[in-house]
Amino acid sequence: MMRQKLLAAAVAITCAGWPLTALGDDADGHMLAQACAGCHGADWGGQGPISDLRGYDHEAFLRAWAEFQADERPATIMNRIARGYSEAEIAALADYFSSLE
Ligand code: HEC
Repeated sequence: MMRQKLLAAAVAITCAGWPLTALGDDADGHMLAQACAGCHGADWGGQGPISDLRGYDHEAFLRAWAEFQADERPATIMNRIARGYSEAEIAALADYFSSLE
């Protein structure tokens, strides 16, 4: 009984810590990409006028992101979203989307 409780507590602690570690230097592109699905489509394949992000060229992604951050690219919302990510997270997102088909 005690052992089961300890195991349950260990699982709970492990799961609770997962999102935090994923947002550190070891940024997890797949996890970060969940925040984009609401607008870019459930599988990031685009939604209405909002772009398909699958297979987005790595360099073009980094360029677009930097332009959003610097307000050098027309944007209604991405200029604000782009400012909330670290370099490691932006690189992880670029890796992730460029790897999708
Ligand atoms: C609230 C809705 C919303 C969310 C959330 C969102 N986007 Fe966007 N995204 C847009 C819109 C709208 C545009 C078109 C530019 C604009 O109006 O800001 C866009 C444009 C882009 C572009 C440029 C596409 C092109 O045509 O070249 C990229 C890249 C991009 N988003 C990546 C992301 C990533 C990565 C995330 C998640 C971290 C994300 N977006 C989250 C709405 C959103």
